Amino acid sequence: MDEQKILSPKKQQSDRDENSLRPKSLKDFIGQKELKRQISIYIKAALKRDENLDHVLLYGPPGLGKTTLASIIANELGVRFKATSAPAIERPGDLAAILTSLNHRDVLFIDEIHRLKPILEEILYPALEDYTLDIIIGQGPGAKSIKLNLNRFTLIGATTRAGLLSSPLRARFGITQRIDFYSRDEIYEIVKRTAKILGVSITDDAASLIAERSRGTPRVANRILKRIRDIAQVEGDGVITLNIAKSGLEMLKLDDLGLGPMDRRLILTIIEKYNGGPVGVDTLAVSLGEDNQTIEDIYEPYLIQLGFIKRTPRGRVATKGAYKYFGVADKHMEEKTLFDE
Ligand SMILES: Nc1ncnc2c1ncn2[C@@H]1O[C@H](COP(=O)(O)OP(=O)(O)OP(=O)(O)O)[C@@H](O)[C@H]1O
Ligand SMILES: [Mg+2]
Repeated sequence: MDEQKILSPKKQQSDRDENSLRPKSLKDFIGQKELKRQISIYIKAALKRDENLDHVLLYGPPGLGKTTLASIIANELGVRFKATSAPAIERPGDLAAILTSLNHRDVLFIDEIHRLKPILEEILYPALEDYTLDIIIGQGPGAKSIKLNLNRFTLIGATTRAGLLSSPLRARFGITQRIDFYSRDEIYEIVKRTAKILGVSITDDAASLIAERSRGTPRVANRILKRIRDIAQVEGDGVITLNIAKSGLEMLKLDDLGLGPMDRRLILTIIEKYNGGPVGVDTLAVSLGEDNQTIEDIYEPYLIQLGFIKRTPRGRVATKGAYKYFGVADKHMEEKTLFDE
C-alpha cells in the first residue's frame, strides 16, 4: 500500500475489517458531543412514543463516522439496520422491494444518497412523507396504478456532498446533522480504543503523536495505527512506543500536520503555478492529474479546516498560513491578505 492510500480518508479495500472497530452504541462513539446529545434526545423521544425516528441526513467528509453513526442509531432504537447505497439501487423495483421489506421503525440506510437516480427519488418522496408506495401494474392502456401502504420506517441518508442533494429530497429529512473533523484529544481516544480492540499496547505519547497526524479523521487514525502496529511487531517487541510511531510516520511520509505528498502538491501548485490563486478546481485537477471530485471531497476539506486554502467564487486561493507553513516567500503577500480575513 503506498502512502497516498494510507492518507486518503476514502474507504478502501484494506478497510474491510472496519466493522470490528465500529462502536456499537452512542456511549462508545467518541467525540461529536453536541451531535450525540441531540441524536440521543430524538431517539429517546421516538422510543417513548413508540414511533419511527424522523428521517436523518448525515453529511460530512469521508471517514468521520457517518455509516457508524447510522448503525448505532438503529442499535439504540432496537430495530433492524438495512444498509445499501444509492449506486447499488438500479431499478424502481429494487427500491420498492427494499421499502416493502421494512418493519415498523426499521432503519434503512442509503449511503451516497446524492447519487440516487431521479426516478428513484420520485418513488422515495411519498414513501418518506406518507409511507406509501405508488406502483404501476401492467403496461399500456391497461396499466393500473395502485397505492401500497408501507410500515413507518426511518431513512438515514449519508453523503459527502449535501450540496448535490436535490432540494425536495433534502426537505424530507426532519433531522440534518453535519459530522465534522475530530479534535486531537478525540482522535487520541479513538487511537487508544482501537489499539485495545486490536490487542496492541501503545504508549500515551505514541498515541498522541498518531492523533496529531491523523487529520482529524478516525478512519485515517485507525489505518495509521494498523500500519504502525505491523512495524512494532516486526521491528520492536510489539509495543507501539514513541520511537516506533515516529519511524512509522516517517515511512508513511506524513508531515507534522499529517499532510501527505498530494496535499503538499496541491498547495504548492496553487502557490507556485498559479501564483497563489484564485484557480478553478477543474484547472487544478488537470494540473495535479486527479479528478476534481476527489480533490473536493478528499483533499480540500481538511486543508480548508487547517485554513490553508479558501474556496472563493473565482477559485481556490492559498492563504497566508499556507505560505508560511510551506516556507514560500510571496512577493504578492500584501494582496493575498485580502483573502485571509
Ligand atoms: N466517533 C467514533 N469513535 C470511534 N471510532 C470511529 C468514530 N467514527 C468513526 N470511527 C471509525 O472510523 C471508521 C470509519 O467510519 P465510517 O465508515 O462510519 O465513516 P463514514 O463517514 O461512513 O465514511 P464514508 O464517507 O467513506 O462512508 C470506522 O471503522 C469506525 O470504527
Ligand atoms: Mg460510510
